[in-house]
Amino acid sequence: MSKKKVLVLTGGGDCPGLNAVIRGIVKRAKKEDDWKVYGSIEAFNGVLKDSPEIVELNNKNTAGIHVKGGTILKTTNKGNPLKFPVKNDSGEMEEVDLSDELINKLKDLGFEAVINIGGDGSQTISKALYDKGLNIIGVPKTIDNDLSGTDFTFGFRTAVQIATDSFDKLVSTAESHHRVMIMEVMGRDAGWIALHTAIGGGAEVCLIPEIPYDINKVVERINKRYRKGRGFVNIVVAEGAKPKEGTVSTIENDELGRGHVRLGGIAYQLSQQLKDAGCKADIRETVLGHIQRGGTPIAFDRVLATMFGVKAFEMILEGKFGEMVAYRNNDICSVSLEEAVSQYNYVKTDSFVINTARGVGISFGD
Ligand code: F6P
Repeated sequence: MSKKKVLVLTGGGDCPGLNAVIRGIVKRAKKEDDWKVYGSIEAFNGVLKDSPEIVELNNKNTAGIHVKGGTILKTTNKGNPLKFPVKNDSGEMEEVDLSDELINKLKDLGFEAVINIGGDGSQTISKALYDKGLNIIGVPKTIDNDLSGTDFTFGFRTAVQIATDSFDKLVSTAESHHRVMIMEVMGRDAGWIALHTAIGGGAEVCLIPEIPYDINKVVERINKRYRKGRGFVNIVVAEGAKPKEGTVSTIENDELGRGHVRLGGIAYQLSQQLKDAGCKADIRETVLGHIQRGGTPIAFDRVLATMFGVKAFEMILEGKFGEMVAYRNNDICSVSLEEAVSQYNYVKTDSFVINTARGVGISFGD
């Protein structure tokens, strides 16, 4: 009997827990006699290559991978099949729509369904391909926690743990030197990582994109603490944070096919703004960067990712295409891809987590 084939891929920035999802899918599929699981290397690029880079996934090559960081299938954030970067006849790069070619190729290769593990960019692609007739299911990945439809994405809590561990180290050196320490964390246009790290670590100041800051208020908070005799201050700033009268800090980048601008550099900008606003303390900056995405997932993310993998395969069996696995109210369910990508998941400024931060004296510079 020929078996049905499902293709799994990981797209966008990597994230702790990707391998645990892959293993969950493979293990659950093994319980069915009539399915085989395959993986496309580097998101959809593996399918689009002249000789496709697709590997069979089995218990042997996925054994024990739930503890490993990264993704065994590799990934890219320049592989959108609807805006695929290719060289034209005059040798210049341009973006072209290869979605029909992709769908036809998947049909020719005999795939019944696709599981796309990725963030908002990847799930926007899933939705577009579903609208064109592809049997596709999404799994929400990202350290940023910025996807709607799910209370948490996997990888977020590991990033917060890494950031909090780093923050703790900065506290002891800030204290020894009576310094102001600024730690820049990732998160794109959402302040989830910064907010949770600030509460978990016990920061004095937390600056997030959802609450543009007034630099004078930040200086006031620093001065107040120095006046109290507590001679050091720890600040967590989200990479997408911005002053009330300013814009976000970006890194120049001309990579074709990339969906988002690169954010970064706010720690140094903030440091200068503090000095310009009269802050007399000694200031140091730390940009945590990709450390937050690397390494082994914490147990919570391994469990969440495994549940997502098992659920994704069961959704294939149920034919729940055009949907994304989700974690809501401590349960695993599914939501439409449309709901998942219709809006960005910002931190709500009237939520209890913001109330908690304010309640323990964290200033948002507002
Ligand atoms: O979306 C995850 C993320 O790590 C963001 O927090 C960050 O802005 C971006 O990806 C960095 O992208 P890259 O890996 O391309 O530098």
